[in-house]
Amino acid sequence: MREHFEVRDTDAGGRIGTLTVPRAETTVETPALLPVINPNIDTISPRRLAEEFGAEILITNSYIVHSTDRLREQALEDGLHELLDFPGAIMTDSGSFQLSEYGEIDVTTEEILEFQYEIGSDIATPVDIPTPPDVSRERAETELETTQERLEVAEDIETGEMLTTAPIQGSTYPELREKAARHATATSHDVLPVGAVVPLMNDYRYAEMVDVVAAAKRGLGADAPVHLFGAGHPMMFALGVALGCDLFDSAAYALYARDDRYLTESGTRHLEDLEYLPCSCPVCTTHTPDELRALSDDEREKELAAHNLHVTFAELRRIKQAIRAGRLLELLDQRARAHPTMLEGYRTLLEYATQLERTDPVSKGTFFYTSHESARRPEVVRHHQRLERLSTPETLFLTEGQPAGSDEFDASWRVEPPFGPFPRALSKSYPFTAELPDRTDRTALEAAAEGVRRLVEAHPESDVTLGHRGWPRGVLEIVPPSVSLVDLTVPTQ
Ligand code: GUN
Ligand code: ZN
Repeated sequence: MREHFEVRDTDAGGRIGTLTVPRAETTVETPALLPVINPNIDTISPRRLAEEFGAEILITNSYIVHSTDRLREQALEDGLHELLDFPGAIMTDSGSFQLSEYGEIDVTTEEILEFQYEIGSDIATPVDIPTPPDVSRERAETELETTQERLEVAEDIETGEMLTTAPIQGSTYPELREKAARHATATSHDVLPVGAVVPLMNDYRYAEMVDVVAAAKRGLGADAPVHLFGAGHPMMFALGVALGCDLFDSAAYALYARDDRYLTESGTRHLEDLEYLPCSCPVCTTHTPDELRALSDDEREKELAAHNLHVTFAELRRIKQAIRAGRLLELLDQRARAHPTMLEGYRTLLEYATQLERTDPVSKGTFFYTSHESARRPEVVRHHQRLERLSTPETLFLTEGQPAGSDEFDASWRVEPPFGPFPRALSKSYPFTAELPDRTDRTALEAAAEGVRRLVEAHPESDVTLGHRGWPRGVLEIVPPSVSLVDLTVPTQ
């Protein structure tokens, strides 16, 4: 049991939860964004993050504090909260990122964890090894073993009320990620980050990121708070949340601002290319693009960073509202249009529909069919599984729309894309109240035909007739040959 985390609401793999951070005497609502603060660079002050942006938690790097004399001494003397002037919870990273960039760092897990404790961190991180994608399996395994040993060492360090994290590594090997997640779950650490996904995201390899996170999630208990390390672009939050990640950290808001890059929830724009500002945040309502361009480098960086943060926090609020309303997958469906690789990530997520189905609520508002990807949502998968358990009469008529001339059958069920067959009594329950465009697409028909197949194969004793409205031959080929077909669009004599 991870006693510091409570899930209140779920939608697909996503959840709204509460992380209790005892050392900060506070709670953090998840999904949460942790702005990254570089203690040496003051783009937006931590105080402003709390007061203007409502940040409840931030993340900074204890290794940078440790290796800078002035910061180390001040942090040891006054504590991290005073050093940064931040009233909320502070998570610290360990220098693992520096390790992956420069090949070595000069602290051990014991030293840096003790240091994080001494300076008053609320959530601390051991020195895991962020194994990059595509390395040999042997290297991934060896480095994972080292990470796991360090997580075990970290368990024995006196950390009081401070929470600790157990990063999950394993490169691009799903089995290693799942194994790493099981190991991390069995430790006493509180927060479980999925590590070393930054290179995947930098290269737009969202499908593989989904594979990696889905594998980690299989090895984690449902009660584990999951951090997606280094995921800071608002375009991909919906995807990360739908996979079951609860914490995100963003250096992107500041790094992008430095290069005149303007974040939106559907991608990055360059300030140079903007004739209009597609945003209503305080920065964008008080400046034109020309006015932003005319600012000094420092001023422009600050204003862009502020805009980037506004967009980032707004997207998280939108995601939380979508979870509350049961519309997370509709939101993700929109976000997936930002870039073909995001669409690839979304389609990959839908390949894990059975895995997502476990946390997906049985009933929500209304299922909106907004793209052919909708035909692969967990609700469809769940219904298809359930078809195998429903009992069927000796003779059964399945028909699109209203029953017509079905008197000679024991029962008449509806069959609707994308779900397939269901008893009429369920017509008013979720998800069968779904709204679809009248111009159905092929994927929805194929999913319906797949449903017919599942039903018939599970009930070979029933005699099934399908009344369809002009389904194409290729779709009808999915239906087993034992089913009698009636095309309802062909007038009968
Ligand atoms: N920041 C981005 N990726 C990682 C990671 O894999 N481990 C740690 N500790 N920090 C990170
Ligand atoms: Zn703005």
